[in-house]
Amino acid sequence: MNDLANRGADETPFYRRIRSFVRREGRLTPGQQRALDDLFPRFGLQLPDAAEPLDLNTVFGRTAPVTLEIGFGDGESLAEQAARQPERDFIGTEVHRPGVGHLLREVEQRGLTNVRVSDADAVELLEHYLTPDSLDCVQVFFPDPWHKKRHHKRRLIQPAFVQHLATRIRPGGRLHLATDWADYAEHMIAVMEECTPWFEPDGPVPAPGRPPDRPETKFERRGLRRGHTVADLVYRRTQAPAAADAGSFGRASPQDGEPVRRS
Ligand SMILES: C[S@@+](CC[C@H](N)C(=O)[O-])C[C@H]1O[C@@H](n2cnc3c(N)ncnc32)[C@H](O)[C@@H]1O
Repeated sequence: MNDLANRGADETPFYRRIRSFVRREGRLTPGQQRALDDLFPRFGLQLPDAAEPLDLNTVFGRTAPVTLEIGFGDGESLAEQAARQPERDFIGTEVHRPGVGHLLREVEQRGLTNVRVSDADAVELLEHYLTPDSLDCVQVFFPDPWHKKRHHKRRLIQPAFVQHLATRIRPGGRLHLATDWADYAEHMIAVMEECTPWFEPDGPVPAPGRPPDRPETKFERRGLRRGHTVADLVYRRTQAPAAADAGSFGRASPQDGEPVRRS
């Protein structure tokens, strides 16, 4: 297993990066543990120790459009999407190990050959391992809302992060965000407006209902049970050149990096 989620702080001695997650190991079922031990070598995204960019054609053994899903949770909706679209390849990255184990089992049980499962912090994966224009689509479904105002800085969708996504998504590719928190939807729309040179809405924002290519997710069902309204926000990468070095996205000064309790 790679352990990129724990890296980063040592490589950034003058400041700590604000993370969009807090590690909750949770209890691994015996099946999840077996999946991590036995299936990660087969279906896991193997990252070299030294940060070397990945050649996705080699990773998948073919040339096909690649979707990256960030924070796939239990991975059921990603597995369903991959099963429905065998002509596309999918990388899922999730820092919660029970979820990684769950998706590995799904991949094996469904016999999927077009999925690679990563346990890396998406920020590190994008920054060090994925090359410019290598992704056809990035999807971030129901990211942690961090609803307390003092935690908003932990939200994954921030201008610097989206600017970095712009360097990794090919021109014409898509960025699909979904949330069931109204104020996070507003925040996402404001961030995407700030990123107008690189992204434009792909249809009405929010989309009228769940797009047909997005299966329902576990956190979505939880939100719907609570009476939340789901917003799907779909953008297309424009032809505008993105800065080659999007800078230190997701990083901040020491006083911003204090530990927090998950709300
Ligand atoms: C609220 S859950 C949603 C899970 C799933 N998308 C769903 O809708 O059921 C958000 C997930 O994002 C993961 N996550 C947060 N920040 C991440 C990061 N930087 N890299 C990878 N995963 C991350 C968390 O571990 C968590 O499982």
